[in-house]
Amino acid sequence: MAGRIPQSFIDDLLARVNIIDVLDGRVQKLKRAGKNYSGLCPFHKEKTPSFSANQEKQFYYCFGCGAGGNALGFLMDYENISFPEAVEELAKTAGMEVPRDDSPHQREKDQQLKTLYTLLDAATTYYEEQLRNNDTRTDAVNYLKSRGLSGQAAKAFSIGFAPSGWDNLLTHLTDGDLEKAKRLEEAGMLIHNEERDSRYDRFRNRIMFPIRDQRGRTIGFGGRVLGDDKPKYLNSPETPTFHKSRELYGLYEARKHNSKLDRLIIVEGYMDVVGLAQYGIHYAVATLGTATTDQHLERLFKIVPEIIFCFDGDNAGREAAVRALKTTMPVIEDGKEARFLFLPEGEDPDSLVRQEGEVAFSERLSKAQPLSEFFFKSYSENADLDSMDGRARFSTEVLPAINAMRPSLLQQMMLDKICELTNLSLEQLQTTVNFHEAITPNTPQASPSAQTENTYSEYDYQPNDHAHYADSERHDYDTVNTYSPHNRDEFNGNNVKKSLRPYQQRPSNTELSFAAKLIALLLHYPQLASAHQFPEGLKLSEEQDIKLLIQLIDYYSSNPNATLGQLAVDWREDEKLSQTIINLYEISTSLEIHSENDARLYLKDSQHGLELKALELEISAIQKKHQLSKEEKLLLAQKLQKTHQLKNIVKD
Ligand code: UTP
Ligand code: MN
Repeated sequence: MAGRIPQSFIDDLLARVNIIDVLDGRVQKLKRAGKNYSGLCPFHKEKTPSFSANQEKQFYYCFGCGAGGNALGFLMDYENISFPEAVEELAKTAGMEVPRDDSPHQREKDQQLKTLYTLLDAATTYYEEQLRNNDTRTDAVNYLKSRGLSGQAAKAFSIGFAPSGWDNLLTHLTDGDLEKAKRLEEAGMLIHNEERDSRYDRFRNRIMFPIRDQRGRTIGFGGRVLGDDKPKYLNSPETPTFHKSRELYGLYEARKHNSKLDRLIIVEGYMDVVGLAQYGIHYAVATLGTATTDQHLERLFKIVPEIIFCFDGDNAGREAAVRALKTTMPVIEDGKEARFLFLPEGEDPDSLVRQEGEVAFSERLSKAQPLSEFFFKSYSENADLDSMDGRARFSTEVLPAINAMRPSLLQQMMLDKICELTNLSLEQLQTTVNFHEAITPNTPQASPSAQTENTYSEYDYQPNDHAHYADSERHDYDTVNTYSPHNRDEFNGNNVKKSLRPYQQRPSNTELSFAAKLIALLLHYPQLASAHQFPEGLKLSEEQDIKLLIQLIDYYSSNPNATLGQLAVDWREDEKLSQTIINLYEISTSLEIHSENDARLYLKDSQHGLELKALELEISAIQKKHQLSKEEKLLLAQKLQKTHQLKNIVKD
């Protein structure tokens, strides 16, 4: 199965399939409308079509929710599958065989992975059976009953029971086969005692919660003690199938229950997910003993536009919420929403929904605080907004967090709010932050009052339910460093205003920057990227649009025949970039450039402006130096002179 897929094959595949065939049957009311096709977008709820696809460009775009891409991207999002899986799927419809790195080594690796999935599924079935049939199941059954768990809910989540004893699973699944035992260990289900070179069951006398991937395959387990012993939960370790920072408990079950979810709740525990589902709230997921990561969020936001974090009302909950807030801010974009719900102290979602039922709990959900509200509440709590110093400190604390956001309406509104709270203009704020950064080179992340590290340390101790094995069984309830937005450097900046430019919000091309227009033009006529001489000096620019323009020119120069689809594939890693490209592509249809000749003329007309821009950049680069050499002075004079000339030409 796996192995690297050659790029040439992907290009070939995209060239051979027709996106319209892929959309057909997946997009409702797909109809031809002139050059384009339109239909009901499958990625958000709508009654009138805002989804459009262009056969010529092999591209789709939704004006409603901004989803867009080529056939592969569509399949990935629609079927919720990975890139290689989408290639596989598409190739099938085109009757093509996906070439792979088919070395014996690779084949062996694939085979081993398959074995792990098979073993984990077998373990799931085994534990389920034990809950139904094992002689010692009474305690487990009584425990679950005492917690009010219904048989139906247990079944929906395939909850099981690992009986006491060191080798129940081992014996049942391997039957003495050493190779199989090694695989089962690799799957995280056995622990290896090096000294004795023996293996034993990791999960003993525990209620078992299988954790499943998008396709419903078990990838790991959480196991709960039957009473109050510690550690309460054991989780599978990181294995080739199980990556805690990416996986979410209950996501498979939620999607299975409803394939068109419009929101998801993130709760803390296994039992919360199950309890909520039992009471009719089938859209809760839980992280697996780690804080929410940006990977979790990216994943969830691909599925739903709204996420509600649900926290306990105590201090630990509040601290966890602040961490979630920090992780969410760089991920949020227009059309997506995150909200925060705090439960009464001493309650968790499971206990609360059992007490008050679905309706009352849903009522709470509908009143959850919007991200911005929670943000300002937690940051201004200890700020003294009446004094000038207090306001300055407040702004230096909040601005980095806001700068780390993607350009969006929300970001703008939050900036406005800061201006309002501090009584400062954007320009003043900018100076404050610049000044602050100048005196403290490593601006720490904005830190609201709560101490946010290691919220979960209370669980972090060495269990000793069997002293002999204690070492290898240290449980893994850890925290993952969550604050790693990949697009930080672009906005970490000196310029608050620079990040105030969401492409999505631009209603017409009159608001497009000069560079953005050129990008749009190149997207239609990529051949002009190398045919046209763009001034070198542009590379000095720090402006987002110009940087993107340069990047695009470079890309097309080395991939002169790239289609928009291929570009989307090549840039798929950087979602923000590809989204920007798609938006610009769409907007550019109103540029009134209808032929390559038009495009050439447009470029020609722009050339003086571009040169002027490049000159300005070069000049300011020279001027930044403290001491100029004679040559540099001369160069500066020449450039200033040239600027003067150009300005006159442009004026005419
Ligand atoms: P909770 O203690 O809130 O769990 O921990 P819960 O699901 O409400 O458990 P019940 O209701 O007492 O059965 C939240 C989550 O933290 C992780 C688990 O993922 C748990 O669901 N955790 C907690 C651990 O991994 N290990 C622990 O020892 C405790
Ligand atoms: Mn609980």
